[in-house]
Amino acid sequence: MKFIFEHSVEGKKAFRIEELDVPVSEIDFPKHLLRDLPPELPQVSELDIVRHYTQLEKLNHSVDSGFYPLGSCTMKYNPFINDETASYAGFSKIHPYEEEDTVQGALELMYNLQQSLCEITGMDAITLQPAAGAHGELTGMLIIRKYLLDKGFTNKTKVIVPDSAHGTNPASAKMAGFDIVQVKSDEHGLVDIQDLKMNMTDEVAAVMLTNPNTLGIFEKNICEIQKIAHEKNALLYYDGANLNAIMGKVRPGDMGFDVVHLNLHKTFSTPHGMGGPGSGPVGVKKHLSPYLPKPVVEMDIDGKYYFDNNMPLSIGKVRSFYGNFSVMVRAYTYILMMGKDGLRRASELAVLNANYMRVKLSKSFKISHENVCKHEFVINGSALKEYGVKTLDFVKMLLDNGIHPPTVYFPLIVEEAMMIEPTETENKETLDNTIRVFEDILKVAKTEPQKLHDAPFNTPVRRLDETKATKDLKVRYNSK
Ligand SMILES: Cc1ncc(COP(=O)(O)O)c(C=O)c1O
Repeated sequence: MKFIFEHSVEGKKAFRIEELDVPVSEIDFPKHLLRDLPPELPQVSELDIVRHYTQLEKLNHSVDSGFYPLGSCTMKYNPFINDETASYAGFSKIHPYEEEDTVQGALELMYNLQQSLCEITGMDAITLQPAAGAHGELTGMLIIRKYLLDKGFTNKTKVIVPDSAHGTNPASAKMAGFDIVQVKSDEHGLVDIQDLKMNMTDEVAAVMLTNPNTLGIFEKNICEIQKIAHEKNALLYYDGANLNAIMGKVRPGDMGFDVVHLNLHKTFSTPHGMGGPGSGPVGVKKHLSPYLPKPVVEMDIDGKYYFDNNMPLSIGKVRSFYGNFSVMVRAYTYILMMGKDGLRRASELAVLNANYMRVKLSKSFKISHENVCKHEFVINGSALKEYGVKTLDFVKMLLDNGIHPPTVYFPLIVEEAMMIEPTETENKETLDNTIRVFEDILKVAKTEPQKLHDAPFNTPVRRLDETKATKDLKVRYNSK
């Protein structure tokens, strides 16, 4: 496929700037800031652009084009009504510097979203600023750090993270200045309580967990875990990336968590992937609310919405302006469309779909743990090695069947892991087809393993060098 620059023909245009109907500005720009030559932009028509990007889009796998059971990422269908509301001019054409009086509708939406997320998570206050899950984790850790220091706990330098945790958890805690202590999982895939107790010293500032955990298993000892943490004045942090499993069933706040981050771009149905805009709100219990990033949106006694900047203990701002607003509009639309019962039903179906696949696939594949799972489960792919193939080879052939691979090699505690999260939005036919494809590929692995080494066959590109883009980054087009 050609680059957009290769479609360029001198004189073609897709955009015409209107004649000025205001006086030309008299500002004298400093000479050194002016270009010597115009930028070398491609000269293309509007139709050239439409066709180029439509073709480019078709090369990609997406939730709209096929099943995407990427574990831990909740790649569910995103109803188009979310985009419709996000594109209303009153939301999409406002400027963050506008006076509060002129954007009351947007502030009301943010306020209501804060309230809804507090209700769903069982928290008392929330910030919508963080731009992604990992950013929420960092924000949460900075809140915990400042709170503990203010309370005089200068010795609390450690954060406990289970060995099944998502990689961003220890990374965020480390970035916030903590040292990481890893605790083991037991044979059921749950936090090893004895190991937790052994590591729970006075120096521990927080225990960072997700529940259900990354094996898709609900930490049934969560009440005991919270007691162990709180008895040592450590706080409990909830990674909300797995909230899709429990909406309307249990709330992190009721389980004893002090801080929660959510991934609006997962649970609350915003398209994501490829680094697209996300949102990682952080909810806290009352004692931590003064430390939230400022401003938060409040409502005064006359029902007027405003940004509350009067937060002297706040950790400060964590993102420019107020966060990714269009993602908030999508999430709020989704919550209103689903309602209380709809959100609960979504979680029930997500869990049902995962267990349906788990039980069916367990006839041919080893599942990491026998327990009934929540929204996802993990296949241990180590048996594939008998046939001379690895999980990586196996999943490449899924692409030839129009199925995006599951998350692989995570969690780290499962050998040759394949982590499957079907989500609630897939129907039985899709699940049955995927189960059949998994079984068919297993047969190929047994009889023609070389085929798996060579897969994928039908994708626009075959096997990519997965680290080249980071190690040998090229961001400039060079026609010469
Ligand atoms: C369990 C878990 N925690 C945290 C994150 C980080 O979220 P984000 O990708 O939005 O930074 C992810 C993302 O995959 C996750 O699965």
